[in-house]
Amino acid sequence: MELRHLRYFVAVAEERNFTRAAQRLHIAQPPLSRQIQQLEEILGVQLFERNSRPLKLTETGKFFYAHAVQLLAQTSELESMTRRVGNIERSMSVGFVASTLYGLLPKIIRRFRDENPTVELSLHEMSTTDQIRALKDGRIDVGFGRIRLEDSNIRRVVLREEKMIVAFPAGHPLSIAKPVSALRDLVNETLIIYPKTPRPSYADQVLAAFQDRGLKPRKIYEVREIQIALGLVAAGEGISIVPSSVYGLKRDDVSYKELDDPTLVSPIIMSMRAMDESRDINEMLDLIYRLYEEAQIPFVARTGKGQ
Ligand code: BEZ
Repeated sequence: MELRHLRYFVAVAEERNFTRAAQRLHIAQPPLSRQIQQLEEILGVQLFERNSRPLKLTETGKFFYAHAVQLLAQTSELESMTRRVGNIERSMSVGFVASTLYGLLPKIIRRFRDENPTVELSLHEMSTTDQIRALKDGRIDVGFGRIRLEDSNIRRVVLREEKMIVAFPAGHPLSIAKPVSALRDLVNETLIIYPKTPRPSYADQVLAAFQDRGLKPRKIYEVREIQIALGLVAAGEGISIVPSSVYGLKRDDVSYKELDDPTLVSPIIMSMRAMDESRDINEMLDLIYRLYEEAQIPFVARTGKGQ
């Protein structure tokens, strides 16, 4: 059986008509019918109900269709990924979630440019979920996100586990009166989470932190992004749980507080195409670990493999 058989079969199954399928494939109808017949012979099964108008798949045909569609999608993914790896060596597109801009990302980019002046670097803000799609499509070469998404085509490296802290409206009693000790002290507040879409996102990490401790915030307010969450905190609409690098974003109207809970962390994850061992990606990874050491930022030990 060849890929051509799968493409022809999927077209006929979707059009439910040989003439339309042949038009879609830009071939004549008789060779298309022969190919489908040949496919049924190879498999030793009947894929379409005989004499049905419009054409109907048999139960076996439905099973074969579901798997054929997946296989064709994987083939086209493989095509675009390979093209990307093979064609472009000295340019790198980086996807990142907004919150990494408050961490080391700007420094990483500046240093990478200084050390690799011939590499054309471009930056694209996108969710971790969108990064996976963009890596596969070849639109980016590396992604920095926070969500552990499983995908056999993607290698993930957890760089560090960043502490989560609470952003309070300035003057909020919990931010000044006594040290906040745990998430449980926050359940009566309105919790502002972001991003609202796409999910899963950092918002789900925050919700899971409450759930894992058997807690349920009284009210949840979902917003599009971190800046809006902080603006609403400043306006006194609620509190938000943010990565600790947001400390750097000084605002007079927001006060930040650490919780006494070392397990309250959010990972920073670097994702790349599995098997993409290009020089620029390795140089970026080396640079990140060098910067962690220079700035004495605790990081997850390097394994050399995906995590
Ligand atoms: C960090 O803050 O550790 C970081 C941010 C973006 C990319 C890589 C690392």
